[in-house]
Amino acid sequence: MYSSQAHAVLQRILSTLSDTFGRKQLQPFYTRLGIHFPEIYSRYLSLYGQRADLEDQLQQLIHTLAQSYIERSPTLKQTDLEREQNPTWFLSQQWVGMALYADRFAGGLAGVNSKVGYLQNLGVNMIHIMPLMQCPEGSNDGGYAISDFRKVDSRIGTQDQLHQLTTNLRREKMLLTLDVVINHTSDEHEWVQRARAGEKTYQDYYYCYSDRTVPDQFERTMPEVFPETAPGSFTWDESLQQWVMTVFNHYQWDLNYTNPAVFREMTSIILHWANQGADILRLDAPAFIWKQIGTTSQNLAQAHTLLQLFKACSQIVTPGVLFIAEAIVAPHDIMKYFGTPSTQECDIAYNATFMALLWEAVATRNTKVLTNTLKHLPVKPLGTTWLNYIRCHDDIGLGFSDEDIVRAGFTPYLHRRYLLDYLTGQYPATISRGAPFGSNPKTGDARISGSLASLAGLEAAMEANDPVAIEQAQQLIITLHALIMSYGGIALLYYGDELATLNDHDYLNDPTKASDNRWMHRPQLQWDRIQQLLSTANPQQAVFSALQRLIALRKQLPILADLNNRVLIDQDNAHLLVMACKDPSGVQAPLFVIANFDDREHHFNLSYLNQQGWQGEALYDLYNQEVIEIIDNHLLAIPAKGFYWLSATAN
Ligand code: GLC
Repeated sequence: MYSSQAHAVLQRILSTLSDTFGRKQLQPFYTRLGIHFPEIYSRYLSLYGQRADLEDQLQQLIHTLAQSYIERSPTLKQTDLEREQNPTWFLSQQWVGMALYADRFAGGLAGVNSKVGYLQNLGVNMIHIMPLMQCPEGSNDGGYAISDFRKVDSRIGTQDQLHQLTTNLRREKMLLTLDVVINHTSDEHEWVQRARAGEKTYQDYYYCYSDRTVPDQFERTMPEVFPETAPGSFTWDESLQQWVMTVFNHYQWDLNYTNPAVFREMTSIILHWANQGADILRLDAPAFIWKQIGTTSQNLAQAHTLLQLFKACSQIVTPGVLFIAEAIVAPHDIMKYFGTPSTQECDIAYNATFMALLWEAVATRNTKVLTNTLKHLPVKPLGTTWLNYIRCHDDIGLGFSDEDIVRAGFTPYLHRRYLLDYLTGQYPATISRGAPFGSNPKTGDARISGSLASLAGLEAAMEANDPVAIEQAQQLIITLHALIMSYGGIALLYYGDELATLNDHDYLNDPTKASDNRWMHRPQLQWDRIQQLLSTANPQQAVFSALQRLIALRKQLPILADLNNRVLIDQDNAHLLVMACKDPSGVQAPLFVIANFDDREHHFNLSYLNQQGWQGEALYDLYNQEVIEIIDNHLLAIPAKGFYWLSATAN
């Protein structure tokens, strides 16, 4: 919206820009700046309006943007222009990703580059490389404690190797996602060193207090993220002689965004990685970036304002680059990270709700909580999408609400207890082999670690040498993938899951990892073994080839693009999840997704599909490429742990 005040400030800043950057070619930059400046100005004012140096700070920010624009390569600028013309390009069903650690997947960036063929063979065309920036030698939270935001960690590779990889990916029309850890730095970061050396400028980058008064006030309402290994949210720093806010581990210092210099630095870092060729940036832990005494210091309105500002800055400099919100928070809170059409934040968000509910349904073999929760979620803005996943490098948090559990007819405390016991292998009849993570005796909460295959029962089944259980675990792994591939959004596989990799307990031998059991599901892949596995018949090979088929099929089905076109179908069998994917233009026949979470076959009454556009035609199972038998003119048998992608037409 036009504001004369914003206009006057912009005029003054523009004149300083031309003084600094002279006749440099800044044309699309100026146009985009003109569009986004009023929004930037009003948001900036809401966060930093109290400061006497507001305009000076804003001017420095705009200069940072101009500098980043100048540094952006002509190739990337061309991609920006193309994507501006086709802003919904990423909603296509064509995109299937995999998240991986470069070193653990293939020994580093050069190794990842050499495995591009393997990924393409599977059908993956988006790679999310977990944090690759320089981090401390010892404990570093899997790379999420950064000591130099602009340097590739030498254990992972070199800047040159990253360049070779991005060039190769671009040639192969694949996307690269990189992490930017916006909430904290490692305590080995130069800013910390300078703060410790007494530089006030850098002390102001963090939350530092000489006594416990303020930390105590904060901690009264701040939940603990790692209660077992890093209780509390502050750490005493000997050399600074102050309490420092460390919400995650004691060596991860929280950045203080009430300081506009921090916002500017982090904007510059985000744009730097966009300029290194990332197509998508995963903003780590955005829920935490603003803190306020008396609150949980999560999901605050100011955190959203900061994200809106990051987005507007990126739309000016790197408009072809997308943001993923890694906001693993309550279902209704996650939705807010998309922003609204007029206050955009992130283009993509982790669908942590769906992920956690899938595990809830696995553990209970019942879909009531799953369907009830999904039914009550608001619709996300058109033009944004989910990252649908089953497992990732983190633990599984049962983040859905007690209200949703009650609505499904269960008692929250008992239900959560059961889920934890089941998934961590403590319930007598369980097949899951996970482990509790982050147990908090004060609240009774815990989350769950473990690999997909071990949680899905493959480890126990293989140990028992039980062919039926092996077959069911394998089928469950495939069905869960079929669900993330048809829910609407980018399907994100987690490396190793395509090979049904079991828990890996090697981390216990490494003192820097032993206290964090998330490492049990962060495997070191052994490529000679993989080659062997893939050349013989076994559950791993079966999962790999099923995923290959599923991915290829998904790519052929435009109805699986994310146009907010999923309808959850209420029906009477509590073991089944049923969805319709509908063509918004009504031209294509709907695609019906039916999954059975039980270990017995179940019948589905087809009359539930009538309202969704099915009129009794023969139904074709697109995955197995066959017409499905309809029993007594109205029933469909869904195999144990199985799924169907059904359509009235064969293509
Ligand atoms: C994110 C990461 C997680 C890390 C945390 C702190 O949630 O996914 O692995 O521990 O941020 O950086």
